[in-house]
Amino acid sequence: MRVVITGGAGFLGSHLCDALVLRGDSVVCVDDLSTGRLANLRHLRDHPGLTFVECDVTRGVDVTGPVDAVAHLASPASPPDYLRRPLDTLAVGSRGTEHAVSLAQRHGARFLLASTSEIYGSPALHPQPEEYWGNVNPIGPRSVYDESKRYAEALTAAYARTHGVNTGIVRIFNTYGPRMRSHDGRVITNFISQALTGRPLTIYGDGSQTRSFCYVDDLVAGLVAMLDATEPGPVNLGNPEECTVAELARLVQRLTGTDVPIDLRPLPQDDPPRRRPVIERATRTLGWRPVTGLEEGVRRTIDWFKARPEELGERKLSRTSSTT
Ligand SMILES: NC(=O)c1ccc[n+]([C@@H]2O[C@H](COP(=O)([O-])OP(=O)(O)OC[C@H]3O[C@@H](n4cnc5c(N)ncnc54)[C@H](O)[C@@H]3O)[C@@H](O)[C@H]2O)c1
Repeated sequence: MRVVITGGAGFLGSHLCDALVLRGDSVVCVDDLSTGRLANLRHLRDHPGLTFVECDVTRGVDVTGPVDAVAHLASPASPPDYLRRPLDTLAVGSRGTEHAVSLAQRHGARFLLASTSEIYGSPALHPQPEEYWGNVNPIGPRSVYDESKRYAEALTAAYARTHGVNTGIVRIFNTYGPRMRSHDGRVITNFISQALTGRPLTIYGDGSQTRSFCYVDDLVAGLVAMLDATEPGPVNLGNPEECTVAELARLVQRLTGTDVPIDLRPLPQDDPPRRRPVIERATRTLGWRPVTGLEEGVRRTIDWFKARPEELGERKLSRTSSTT
């Protein structure tokens, strides 16, 4: 297959590039490097299976030649990134998605949309099955991300209905692992970088809010399965193992062997109190389920950061984000 991956220089996109190149696909990575980095793809620099195109997908997707599939991952994903660039976030979910899905339409290619559990907003139903329509504040600060992904889902479904495009929507729940930026404001990397540099672990709220964390290798296996399928979705991809943010902090303290204190801060607006995917659909339609437990995944992520102290150099931590 020749697969176009938008956002391929980002955290998830670069792991997807790895998985597809490894199995012999030809990958065209399209990225504007706004939150991604070429360092994520450095090990593939001379690989004939990977081509990199620097391009802002809100202006078009500049790819020539055959295309068998388009995986659309381009979008700021962590709260500090999308809160800093609200209009760009709306643009990439709307115009960017239209360019990506119309590329798939022109080539008769499979189109995979990386949507998010954030479309469920502050959920009134727990855990969240795909049938749940969500509870999003449409004008709150986080809405630029949540609503752009909801619009991207609507657009994808409309292209399938109107133009017969072979589309698939995945709703990704919190995913973590190597290549996340230590300062990107997501709770696991916040805790790990704080613990490894001897600073207090910042908990927003009282730490009783829950999240379900999926290790990146598991998530990427789900993306590949969805790319290869004809299932339209939406399909939740995430790890249903739920833990509180306070439990996560204690796990990071234990695995890093540090006794840094906890620093409690106020909860930001619209921070969802609970998140856990129902993954029956992914298991039934894709034969997918996560296999990496939280302790094992966090240990691997800590090891990755320990081997790269330069990754911990960025000290600026977000005050606006919390637990995403
Ligand atoms: N990581 C998670 O836990 C998670 C959860 C839910 C959904 N997702 C979705 O998965 C996708 C990837 O997330 P990630 O965690 O790898 O984030 P990331 O920020 O590491 O990657 C996003 C990539 O998109 C690129 N990009 C952004 N705007 C672009 C534009 N206009 N044109 C071209 N490239 C652009 C960035 O440079 C970056 O490389 C996103 O769509 C995100 O919404 C991620």
